[in-house]
Amino acid sequence: MSIDLHVLDHPLVEHKLTVLRNKNTPSSTFRELVTELVMLEAYEATRGLAVVDKPIETPVAPMVGKHIATPAPIIVPVLRAGLGMLDGMTKMIPTAEVGFLGMKRDEEHPTQQITYANRLPDDLSGRQCFLIDPMLATGGTLVAATHYLAERGAKDVTAINIIAAPEGIKFVEENIDPTIDFKIVVCGVDEKLNDRCYIVPGLGDAGDRLYGVI
Ligand code: URA
Repeated sequence: MSIDLHVLDHPLVEHKLTVLRNKNTPSSTFRELVTELVMLEAYEATRGLAVVDKPIETPVAPMVGKHIATPAPIIVPVLRAGLGMLDGMTKMIPTAEVGFLGMKRDEEHPTQQITYANRLPDDLSGRQCFLIDPMLATGGTLVAATHYLAERGAKDVTAINIIAAPEGIKFVEENIDPTIDFKIVVCGVDEKLNDRCYIVPGLGDAGDRLYGVI
């Protein structure tokens, strides 16, 4: 199956991504840039957001505008690094609900992950789901996280990542549930993974850079 992959091609995104990648960028700036980048990504990621007609009156005339439909979209940050993208997403979709998935890489088997927290609504049928995680590295976390959403009936999942590796995109392509309407939005696709499954050139460990643990 070929994946619906959207790579943002915009000078502002390229500029902000370069500052983000720089190892000398401090955590405070890193966090601000992640928020700004996810807001730009949200514009692309929410193109298909369901809306309904909303009659209102402006100071000049009545009109029928648009409102985000219910049930509200759900945003799911993958802890820990996905939390850094939550602020930008909730700024863009203030009515969204938020679920949480805690997943971390198994350091002894870096291609596998351990799930340590799972707070999702029981029923996600009919909900538009946005999975947020800065790095799409091996793709294992994204496939596992999508699986948790699908188990609860989700059929419409958009992954928003900042940087992806070609290996991760291929893994997702080969392993994602084909019955799901699935899309990925990223700011950039890098060269490769290294032998520790870090993205090259990447930006290092996104969680450490967000929260200042180097
Ligand atoms: N997770 C990160 O934080 N960085 C990478 O390069 C890969 C996975």
